[in-house]
Amino acid sequence: MALRKMRIMGEDDCLREVCREVKEVTPKIVQLVDDMLDTMYEENGVGLAAPQVGILKRIVVIDVGEGPLVMINPKILETSGSQTGSEGCLSVPGKNGTVTRPMYVKAEFYDEEMNKCIVEGEELLARAICHELDHLDGKLYVDFIEGKLRDNELDGYGEEEEE
Ligand code: NI
Repeated sequence: MALRKMRIMGEDDCLREVCREVKEVTPKIVQLVDDMLDTMYEENGVGLAAPQVGILKRIVVIDVGEGPLVMINPKILETSGSQTGSEGCLSVPGKNGTVTRPMYVKAEFYDEEMNKCIVEGEELLARAICHELDHLDGKLYVDFIEGKLRDNELDGYGEEEEE
C-alpha cells in the first residue's frame, strides 16, 4: 500500500490545471491508480482525481460503496434532472458546501486495459462523477457553491442535505 500526498486548495496550483489525456497505460499508471485507490480509502473519500495527488493526467477513482470504479480519459455523454446537496473534497479539508448537480449522468471512459466503457449513475454516483471530472479541468466544487463554505467534521462528500 502506498499513499500519495494530498494536494490542498490554496497551496497547490496543480488543482487548477487542465489535465492531459492518457495515451497508454504504463506500469507507472497502474501504480498511480493503485496508490490513488489506497489514498482515497485511507482518507475515507468517495472519489479522487489524479491532480489531487499532483499528477496532471485524466484519471479518477470513485467508490460510492459499490466497489472501485477507475476511469481513464472520462467524458460525460448525457445528464438529466438535478439534485441539490452537500459536497466536500479531500483537497478542501474540513469544509462542505451546497452544490446542484445532475441527478443522472452517463459517461464513457477507458479502463486499465484501455477498453472503452460506459457508466450510468444516479444520485451520489452522478454527483461523484461530476465532481471528479471537474478536477480534470482544474475546477473545484467551491466554484459552484450556493451560499457559504461551511465547516465540517467530515471530509469527503455524500451527506445529502435535508430539503
Ligand atoms: Ni474533490
